Amino acid sequence: MARPVAGGLAKAAAVLVLVQVLCMARWSDGVGVNWGTQLSNPLPGSTMVRLLKDNGFDKVKLFDAEDSILGALKGSGIQVMVGIPNDMLADLAGGGKAAEHWVKANVSKHVSDGVDIRYVAVGNEPFLTTFNGTYLNTTFPAMQSVQAALAKAGLGSRVKVTVALNADVYQSPTGKPSDGDFRDDIRGLMLSIVQFLASSGAPFVANVYPFISLYADPNFPLDYAFFQGSSSAVVDGGVTYENTFDANHDTLVAALRRNGFPDVPIVVGEVGWPTDGDANANPEYARRFNQGLLDHIASGKGTPLRPGVPVDAYLFSLVDEDQKSIRPGNFERHWGVFYYDGQPKYQLSLRGGNGAGTLVPAKGVEYLKKQWCVLKRDADLADQKVGDSVSYACGQADCTSLGYKTSCSGLDPRGNVSYAFNSYYQSNDQDDQACNFGGLATTTTVNPSSGTCRFIVQIVPADPTSAATASVAGGVATLLAALLLHRLF
Ligand SMILES: *[C@@H]1O[C@H](CO)[C@@H](O)[C@H](O)[C@H]1NC(C)=O
Ligand SMILES: *[C@@H]1O[C@H](CO)[C@@H](O)[C@H](O)[C@H]1NC(C)=O
Ligand SMILES: *[C@@H]1O[C@H](CO)[C@@H](O)[C@H](O)[C@H]1NC(C)=O
Ligand SMILES: *[C@@H]1O[C@H](CO)[C@@H](O)[C@H](O)[C@H]1NC(C)=O
Repeated sequence: MARPVAGGLAKAAAVLVLVQVLCMARWSDGVGVNWGTQLSNPLPGSTMVRLLKDNGFDKVKLFDAEDSILGALKGSGIQVMVGIPNDMLADLAGGGKAAEHWVKANVSKHVSDGVDIRYVAVGNEPFLTTFNGTYLNTTFPAMQSVQAALAKAGLGSRVKVTVALNADVYQSPTGKPSDGDFRDDIRGLMLSIVQFLASSGAPFVANVYPFISLYADPNFPLDYAFFQGSSSAVVDGGVTYENTFDANHDTLVAALRRNGFPDVPIVVGEVGWPTDGDANANPEYARRFNQGLLDHIASGKGTPLRPGVPVDAYLFSLVDEDQKSIRPGNFERHWGVFYYDGQPKYQLSLRGGNGAGTLVPAKGVEYLKKQWCVLKRDADLADQKVGDSVSYACGQADCTSLGYKTSCSGLDPRGNVSYAFNSYYQSNDQDDQACNFGGLATTTTVNPSSGTCRFIVQIVPADPTSAATASVAGGVATLLAALLLHRLF
């Protein structure tokens, strides 16, 4: 080819810019984040939306259609996937007008207000085996009802219906991704759902958790959970899988191909790594995993069975949620890339690559007073009341940072008690009544944090007008707590 003259150079430069823009666009289609709301003191919706925007997240996944949150997303330009909780599936499946009412109140209204709702995820991991089949009969009919209601509301082509599924709906009998298929007990149901997704062009949404694989199996090779190569690679025909994420993703690709749906797009609805509450949950591993994932997405390489198709994923999660159930494990409250108050836990470059950008903290966060609740100096650890108080505080608040190889595992026994007291005190908005514990506790203005162990100061509860029900519930909880404490001591 002839050397380009000046005009050619300009054209080449323009093409380069265009390529860069396209790459950005492709990236910006690639990284979303989950916004969960099970916190004692959630940041105001407007602060959270600013946090999303400042960090360049342009897709968000919600677990419920909360008015205040959808309202905050109005005009933000952020694409939204709205979830429907499992306990609503039976109603929506039942025919009647439930789905139409749901769409009217929770989609149509917000779309006309300028919220960019793209997907409705009907149910959250409804086919988990731990649900004992509770949602097997209602999930698919609920999806159909919601789709019909969206069509009736004139939103059929704009808002697509899907379902967020746990990765245990597919599996490989041999462990090789290419042998992937849907789980035997729900194969027929899965095929109906995939057919539904294929005909509307909606994505298959699957949650993929290498951390849980490691948590569940002490023999799981640690390096196979990350993206930096593995001594335990899985060889599958001509392909070598060096990380469990790709292997898991391609098990789904194979399942889709095997059943005649090779082109259904895949969206990873949740993927991430927690930072506390377990020996393998720490900021170093979380950073390693998430950065590896983000680099993978940014590379646009895709996976061996879908080469060149960039991985499309929503990180789990934006912020820690101190009221999540810890039935799965103590790590469950520590999935955030940010702490409860929107402060980053570690450096992360969302566009991939090292140093190409770091996380931006939440702005304008209002904290309660700089004070903490601790065990009194003269309190006797052997006092039965101490143990009872700790159990009570930990049952109500959050003690998941205490325990083997957690951020606060270095505390001495008195430090442990203080940690529990402070957690309870802060989650009750520093109410005086919540730092008493039968006279064992006192407040201090000296920060008891040490090393990796953070004794938090909570944030000012969000605007009561936008969270009226939450504050009523909070008031009831405080009242109950006061009654219980009274009874206990
Ligand atoms: C809209 O969604 C909220 C949150 O899930 C739910 O409580 C409410 O019942 C829904 N509205 C209707 C009319 O279904
Ligand atoms: C499922 O069944 C098990 C064993 O019978 C029971 O312990 C568990 O509570 C059930 N879970 C649900 C969600 O019903
Ligand atoms: C689902 O439907 C089947 C067949 O009609 C029935 O046997 C089963 O009890 C139903 N399951 C639930 C959880 O309702
Ligand atoms: C602190 O509490 C945790 C969780 O209850 C416990 O595992 C740990 O052994 C305690 N540490 C001390 C020094 O008492």
